[in-house]
Amino acid sequence: MDWEELRRSRATRSDGDVMLEVRQLTRFVADKPIVENVSFAVRRGETLALVGPSGAGKSSLLRMLNRLDEPSSGTVLLEGVDYTTLSPRDLRRRVGMVMQQAYLFPGTVAENVAFGPASRGESVSAERVRELLERVNLAGYEQRDIGRLSGGEAQRVSLARTLMNDPHVLLLDEPTSALDEDTRFGVEELIQEIARERNLTSILVTHDMDQAARMATRVAVLEAGTLRQIGPAEEVLKTRDA
Ligand SMILES: Nc1ncnc2c1ncn2[C@@H]1O[C@H](COP(=O)(O)OP(=O)(O)O)[C@@H](O)[C@H]1O
Ligand SMILES: [Mg+2]
Repeated sequence: MDWEELRRSRATRSDGDVMLEVRQLTRFVADKPIVENVSFAVRRGETLALVGPSGAGKSSLLRMLNRLDEPSSGTVLLEGVDYTTLSPRDLRRRVGMVMQQAYLFPGTVAENVAFGPASRGESVSAERVRELLERVNLAGYEQRDIGRLSGGEAQRVSLARTLMNDPHVLLLDEPTSALDEDTRFGVEELIQEIARERNLTSILVTHDMDQAARMATRVAVLEAGTLRQIGPAEEVLKTRDA
């Protein structure tokens, strides 16, 4: 069954407009729980910030949301559909990821932006690449070698590459923490604008509480693999500051 069929076939639910529901996700690595029994839901168009100390399991949790890492138990519902019923490839198109480092492969900007569809054997029009590059403020960068990009430019190429798949959900793992301060705000604003335009549902891992306040409607706190707190950004961040 493909994604659209699954969506149509799901029973009528009373979940309102929940885009992503995390159910008791747990991951053990070498008998040690690194994420334990985490449950929460994110509404369509919402940005949830995920904060917590280094080593708390934030990246591990995020990587389970598109099955870069496999849960030991628990699952995720995407628009009500259990994500284990989707192929990992289909899942990763719906749930895109932007990491702290851009991880571009050697070649041109256009080659990197077209990577997703190309890896599925789909052709990408030059027009589509041009539009996306324009949207991330890199008009005319098609033939630029990725070795000649600044950190902020590389991160915007990475964002364009993810957007090329038309994801519904964006997983952002400290997307601006490797950038200097001037560049950081530009990339942050760009992500926010695009998320709004496309009504994307985002989960943002950040250690920057100001960024969480600027970008997120709700904040979840992860400590030692466990969800300690989740609520409106204002409330959670107030208790974190205290
Ligand atoms: N593949 C792995 N093998 C062993 N330990 C891991 C692995 N991935 C993560 N961990 C451990 O899991 C914990 C959570 O890591 P991580 O999810 O990267 O935390 P965070 O992103 O919050 O800093 C850490 O103690 C880390 O060392
Ligand atoms: Mg991390």
